Amino acid sequence: MDKRETFGSRFAVIMAMAGSAIGLGNIWRFPYVVGENGGSAFIIIYLISTLLLSLPIFLSEAVIGRKTGKGTFGAMEQLAPGTRWKWLGLLTVVSPLIILSFYSVVGGWSVEYLLKSLTGSVSTGDAADSSAAFGRFISSVRAPLLCHTLFLGFCAVIVTAGVKKGIERFSTVTMPVLFVLILLIMTYSLFLPGSGAGVTWMLKPDFSKLTASGVASAMGQSFFSLSLGVGTILTYSSYVRKDESLMASALGTAAFDLLFALIAGFAVMPAVFAAGIEPAAGPGLVFETLPYIFASMGSAAPVLSAVVSLLFFLAILVAAVSSAISMLEVGVAYLVDEKGFTRGKAVAVLFAGCWILGTFCSLSFGPLAEFKIFGETFFSFCDKLTSNFLMAFGGLLFTFFVGWRMDREQVRRELTSDGKDRFGTLCFKTVWFLIRYVAPAAIIVIFLTNLFL
Ligand code: TRP
Repeated sequence: MDKRETFGSRFAVIMAMAGSAIGLGNIWRFPYVVGENGGSAFIIIYLISTLLLSLPIFLSEAVIGRKTGKGTFGAMEQLAPGTRWKWLGLLTVVSPLIILSFYSVVGGWSVEYLLKSLTGSVSTGDAADSSAAFGRFISSVRAPLLCHTLFLGFCAVIVTAGVKKGIERFSTVTMPVLFVLILLIMTYSLFLPGSGAGVTWMLKPDFSKLTASGVASAMGQSFFSLSLGVGTILTYSSYVRKDESLMASALGTAAFDLLFALIAGFAVMPAVFAAGIEPAAGPGLVFETLPYIFASMGSAAPVLSAVVSLLFFLAILVAAVSSAISMLEVGVAYLVDEKGFTRGKAVAVLFAGCWILGTFCSLSFGPLAEFKIFGETFFSFCDKLTSNFLMAFGGLLFTFFVGWRMDREQVRRELTSDGKDRFGTLCFKTVWFLIRYVAPAAIIVIFLTNLFL
């Protein structure tokens, strides 16, 4: 059998994992939930959640992935052969593919807006017009489908090229560029007149706004933002070399993800407030509000505003692609490891499956809007099923598996690279406690709040 590919360096590991983590969630969700829930008060809770909840789940997935050197299904088969754990393996092959289907539709929208900014036709300079144009675009049939196809096709090409030549190469080049892009956009935003209110929105601590559901949404956001619970981190970890520190990779990824989310917040919110618009979360923010802002701010310096608009949609596209390839890789690892597919064939099969599901998602904004599952359109059903349910469920089972089913010594060896990783050795006891008790309890709390609040 061929030797399994590995990432070439720690930098590559962190860039690939951060590529997965940094996505639409950082740009259109984080800034909003921060402001809604008490600014820096929320950021503090977010930090604590990341340390106590997300990192232990991250490390649980990492232990399973690197120990077995297999994707989710193979890993479960190897560690718990002939048990029901294989269903967790299967579930986590399927969940990221469902996420990919609707993510690719939104990725497609960013392709359209990038192309539009190239031709200078993003916004007509009126808020209502921008919204209407967005509504017309997503409810039409051909253009969004074409963009969805382009987006998914692009991801397929990268994943076909392999872990090193595809995923690693793409992430190590684009993630640093993405960082510079978002810094440039932030600088532009902060210089707009009236931007101060956006900074206040992000930072002003207001503990009175921090409710129980705010705390749960800090946990949920941190969890979502690190792409946990669906086997992505597990699969990427199976490509991490044995002598690499899992602890350092996890911390590096989480730090990069948070930093990016904060900078994205300072790029987006000051512009929103400068334009005197009420902040909101979701696709509306990036595809309706911002195009209008760039155009209206741009009357004084049209070229600059066109360039910023172009860079902004480029940043969204890159962030979305680097997350999408990690979702695709989970399924590819399964088909290659377990079913003996070649990479190319695995990608082709999954491309076809996700393309069809994604097509339904896309059409659910137009011709299929009336087709509902549990009262939700197809798109929002896939979104809610995965974000509110499958991710948390998977995360719970991964921590439970590592904390209660695996042998402590095995976990220790993996997390400390056989005792050679000093930092890992230092943190092990704490991490073990978090994996066994704290993280599972916290996920159950999120679950219940999602269900009842
Ligand atoms: N972390 C991604 C973001 O912030 C979204 C995401 C959620 C994700 N679950 C995932 C990405 C699973 C890859 C795999 O946008």
